[in-house]
Amino acid sequence: MSKTYLLTGGAGFIGRHLSSELLAHGHHVRVLDNLLEQVHGPSPLGLPPEIELIRGDIRDPEAVSAALHGVDGVFHLAAEVGVGQSMYEIARYVGVNDLGTAVLMEQLIARPVERLVIASSMSVYGEGRYVTPDGRPAAGRRSNGRNDLGWDPLLDDVTPLKPVPTDETKEPDLASIYALTKYTQERSCLIVAAAYGFQAVALRLFNVFGPGQALSNPYTGVLANFGSRLLNGQRPLVFEDGQQRRDFVHVRDVATAFRLAMETPGVAGEVFNIGSGHSYTVEAVARMLAKAMRRDRLAPDIMGKARSGDIRHCFADITKARQRLGYRPAHRLEDTLDELAEWISRSTAADRGDHAKRELEQHGLVA
Ligand SMILES: NC(=O)c1ccc[n+]([C@@H]2O[C@H](COP(=O)([O-])OP(=O)(O)OC[C@H]3O[C@@H](n4cnc5c(N)ncnc54)[C@H](O)[C@@H]3O)[C@@H](O)[C@H]2O)c1
Repeated sequence: MSKTYLLTGGAGFIGRHLSSELLAHGHHVRVLDNLLEQVHGPSPLGLPPEIELIRGDIRDPEAVSAALHGVDGVFHLAAEVGVGQSMYEIARYVGVNDLGTAVLMEQLIARPVERLVIASSMSVYGEGRYVTPDGRPAAGRRSNGRNDLGWDPLLDDVTPLKPVPTDETKEPDLASIYALTKYTQERSCLIVAAAYGFQAVALRLFNVFGPGQALSNPYTGVLANFGSRLLNGQRPLVFEDGQQRRDFVHVRDVATAFRLAMETPGVAGEVFNIGSGHSYTVEAVARMLAKAMRRDRLAPDIMGKARSGDIRHCFADITKARQRLGYRPAHRLEDTLDELAEWISRSTAADRGDHAKRELEQHGLVA
């Protein structure tokens, strides 16, 4: 049955792909987005004519109330996105992410919908799950970046722990202001929905990649950052030793996951990891992308420095989403890099990676 959905932040990277997914399934799409310049540049791209765009701020109760009129469900994607930047633009991140979500909640109390799906983040976990060499679970902690044996969290200061897939039962361990705001967003939605009798589902997204990610925004999207550097003849900037592992999930799989989270019965109040179920080192993805872009000579610049608030390894256990949502990621990184490289080569992007790194250094957030 055709429904009307509101996507807050729907003009962004994930929102555009989710809009296409919903339109392809016969739904009506409305977007509330302030077209933030850091993401969209000075002259934002338009949206397809079948999408209704309300240009407005998620913190503006009147704009949110108008956007909710006649809506069956809401996908809440509007956010300031960037771990490093959140550590010095604190009021800005807390303002948009937490106050913005609070305003949305108050308006939803007045105009309830059937279901709200919120874009949460793997950042709420902090470090992922680890085991000892003999397979016992252990908390992965490191005081500040490098230790005497390298960069991995250690057991009793001597033995490196082994990273294993992280499931939704891992306790949150918030290591940045961005992570704190994503956790507050997630909990606010689940708490208010339960109290007022509408449904909410949270998706903890891992590293989302694919065509359409803002290449000139240096604060988010590791593959987009590498792509922008390579496009401009620069080596990708890699923190630590490049052996940190992440889970890269294609944006089309994420869009499908959002639709499934909206449509699947019996999942209200639940939290789901949305990743690919595979892990890659950051150095390997820098090399893979350079190869796909035919710029192999631009080897990653392994900086040997850690960013404050960064974690070593985290990749997803997606069993719960597979079982409860029927989620089946279909676009593996190695099979889709040519498509990404082709999209990057058609883009123009000012590379601002050095600028973002300098900002972190000026704030004493790189060691
Ligand atoms: N991309 C990832 O890897 C990733 C990973 C985990 C979670 N997420 C979450 O997914 C969501 C979407 O991320 P994305 O990658 O599409 O980011 P994005 O920056 O491309 O999109 C965010 C959108 O929100 C809009 N926005 C920002 N502030 C706003 C405000 N005050 N009012 C209205 N709109 C505002 C921006 O203009 C932008 O269009 C975010 O909530 C993000 O935290 C993304």
